[in-house]
Amino acid sequence: MDTLVVVVTAVWTMLPAYIPNNAAVLAGGGPPIDGGRMWGGRRVLGGGKTWRGTSVGWAAGVVLAALLNELREPVSDLLGVTVPGFPGLVVLALPLGAMLGDMAASFLKRRSGRRRGAPFPGLDQLDFLVGALVLTAVVDFPWFRDVFTPPVLATVLVVTPLLHVTTNAIAYWLGLKNEPW
Ligand code: CTP
Ligand code: MG
Repeated sequence: MDTLVVVVTAVWTMLPAYIPNNAAVLAGGGPPIDGGRMWGGRRVLGGGKTWRGTSVGWAAGVVLAALLNELREPVSDLLGVTVPGFPGLVVLALPLGAMLGDMAASFLKRRSGRRRGAPFPGLDQLDFLVGALVLTAVVDFPWFRDVFTPPVLATVLVVTPLLHVTTNAIAYWLGLKNEPW
């Protein structure tokens, strides 16, 4: 597989997992998912994981995946690379997995005594990626295995933190986010 095919496949496939976090930042607010509950003297998830942010984030990823399915042919023609389509369960799982991964990270951040918004290098950049990959593999392993060949997986692991750091820096600079991570 040549490099262009690998990079295009990696970015295209992960777009429905990249968008939910950014949509959640824009939509966040309202009641927290943990309802303010504590565990071991600390919040279960914290005030940064809300019902509204999570549902809007998930929905944004679903809409994007459905849109990409519609654009599959013209984009493949344009780039000369046959990009993959997203089967129904994958449409749901990529963004939901991303949101759940981010939530699991907040759970771990609270358990390790980090306040809301505190950085956790590595976890902050990869939590949603791991969540999206794991849930997608669970719901449709044949699709997962076909699309995420070792080179595509390796590219996703390198490109994702770079994109995440860049978009968060922009969101911070625009005043949409309180911290640049
Ligand atoms: N957000 C949300 N629901 C989510 C994820 C994010 O409402 N499931 C919104 C919140 O307003 C949150 C902002 O997006 O403050 C930034 O997200 P994130 O960096 O994930 O949360 P933090 O506030 O930094 O909290 P944590 O320390 O738990 O990561
Ligand atoms: Mg944060």
